[in-house]
Amino acid sequence: MSRPIPLWLERLIRGAVDFLCVQVAGILSLVFAGAFVVQPHIAEGELAHYYFHTFLPLSFVFPFVYSLGGLYTKLRGYELSYKLRRAALSASVATLLLVFVSFLASRAQLPRSVALCFAVFAVAAAVGIRWLKDCLFHSEASLQFALTVSAVSQQRNDTVLVVGGAGYIGSIVVEKLLQRGYSVRLLDSLVYGDQSIAPLLSHPKLEFVSGDCRNIQDVVGAMSNAASVIHLAAIVGDPACAEDNENAYQINYAATRMLVEIAKGNGTQRFIFASSCSVYGASETLMDEKSETIPLSLYAETKLQSEKVLLEAASRTFHPTVLRFATVFGLAPRPRFDLVVNLLTAKAIQDGVITIFNGSQWRPFIHVRDIAEAVVQTLAAPVEAVTGEIFNVGDDRLNLTLGEVAEKIRVQIPRTQIEFIENADRRNYRVSFQKIRNCVGFTAQRTVESGIAEIRQAFENGEIDDYRRSFYSNVSYLKERGRLHPKTELDVKVMAAFAGGGGSLEILKARAASSSN
Ligand SMILES: NC(=O)c1ccc[n+]([C@@H]2O[C@H](COP(=O)([O-])OP(=O)(O)OC[C@H]3O[C@@H](n4cnc5c(N)ncnc54)[C@H](O)[C@@H]3O)[C@@H](O)[C@H]2O)c1
Repeated sequence: MSRPIPLWLERLIRGAVDFLCVQVAGILSLVFAGAFVVQPHIAEGELAHYYFHTFLPLSFVFPFVYSLGGLYTKLRGYELSYKLRRAALSASVATLLLVFVSFLASRAQLPRSVALCFAVFAVAAAVGIRWLKDCLFHSEASLQFALTVSAVSQQRNDTVLVVGGAGYIGSIVVEKLLQRGYSVRLLDSLVYGDQSIAPLLSHPKLEFVSGDCRNIQDVVGAMSNAASVIHLAAIVGDPACAEDNENAYQINYAATRMLVEIAKGNGTQRFIFASSCSVYGASETLMDEKSETIPLSLYAETKLQSEKVLLEAASRTFHPTVLRFATVFGLAPRPRFDLVVNLLTAKAIQDGVITIFNGSQWRPFIHVRDIAEAVVQTLAAPVEAVTGEIFNVGDDRLNLTLGEVAEKIRVQIPRTQIEFIENADRRNYRVSFQKIRNCVGFTAQRTVESGIAEIRQAFENGEIDDYRRSFYSNVSYLKERGRLHPKTELDVKVMAAFAGGGGSLEILKARAASSSN
């Protein structure tokens, strides 16, 4: 097997090729000047002098601007059309810089037609070389990947294992996968019952495994022959984790580590993990996947530590992808009324009053059907575009302040009274969703307004009687149900073994507490 080229060397080669292309563009435009520009006439010697003393040293600006534009780093895995647009933009900026500085520095007065000619050649070279590379290597890589997949699929079927598939989001992910013809195996301990998946259970391509993701036997059994895993099982939300933090730590973190190891051992190729935009914590700036993370709760800490475990496990044959979900809203078989848009809408309908804590704080929102669509699109995306990547999942148009959400509710439920209260909650984040749009092609189809309208409709139709029922809230349900202890003594030991590494429960709790102070 050939050894991969080190990343630094690959970047150096790409920079050198770009530099060479700029030289070719420069020489071609100077030859054009010598041959065709009559007025003012430029002597050959003058052109050579200009090339060696002005153009050549200044052209180092190109690799510099290209690296600032992320052409050698950030754009890895992005769609070709986006890469080409960025290359054209970077080449134009670098050309402007070169022409401007050369105008100030050079004695040779080059006609504008030559500068224009150089700009066209430079942009064409930056775009053309990338397009050519994609044509030559991408098709070869796709072919190699297709051969690997077809070789593997001769030994296994195309089963997708959805862990936590009976939940608010999971039930819709499973429904969409079945609609698209996947064979689905669903592992869930049915913490909130089976109402969400009851209509799907008779589907011929669905296999339901009632089990706990902390139980090694349940996981090994469910993983058998699975080509991909979508891991959604968790104790979800800050209050629910605070209610039972030991079990939340096991389920959200230690079990994820075990799932990763078993998936790798099983030869599973893809692993999509549901994380959360809450890992960003509090910030005034727009957060993208490279932004600093400041988890402010145990829930966010367990998500962040699981992300690390997963991404470190990436290899040539194991392709993990982390999806950081925005805050979800909208109707599902078990609608959750512990999520902000759903809860405020239900309160407006049933109580007539909503209380907004810290109305100027930003949150990213996304409809539950859109998030399920994003998961399915990520699974179907070319593996090169998603392997080892983190994606924020949401839509730039759905970054809203809590005050804006309240106003949108009042538009549809006009008798709503809104009370604004300030408290110490520091969670505040606005998130960029450009990467998933460019790499996977995902954009949301539903707005917050449509989510509010469908909930109002569900109340009017009598589908929902009382949002206060504990069934609709993870934390209330867990309070009533009691702790989610593992099934056996062995599970406790296995979870303790997987709990090391990223930090013990006590360390994560302390870290989250110190960030939120
Ligand atoms: N809903 C949101 O706003 C949101 C936002 C960001 C991230 N997420 C993430 O998306 C995922 C799904 O969230 P959701 O809203 O559907 O939550 P949910 O609580 O409705 O679903 C979680 C599912 O996991 C199952 N589960 C819990 N413990 C288990 C265990 N030990 N073994 C097997 N199954 C177990 C539950 O029975 C449930 O079906 C979670 O990982 C969550 O952290 C959700």
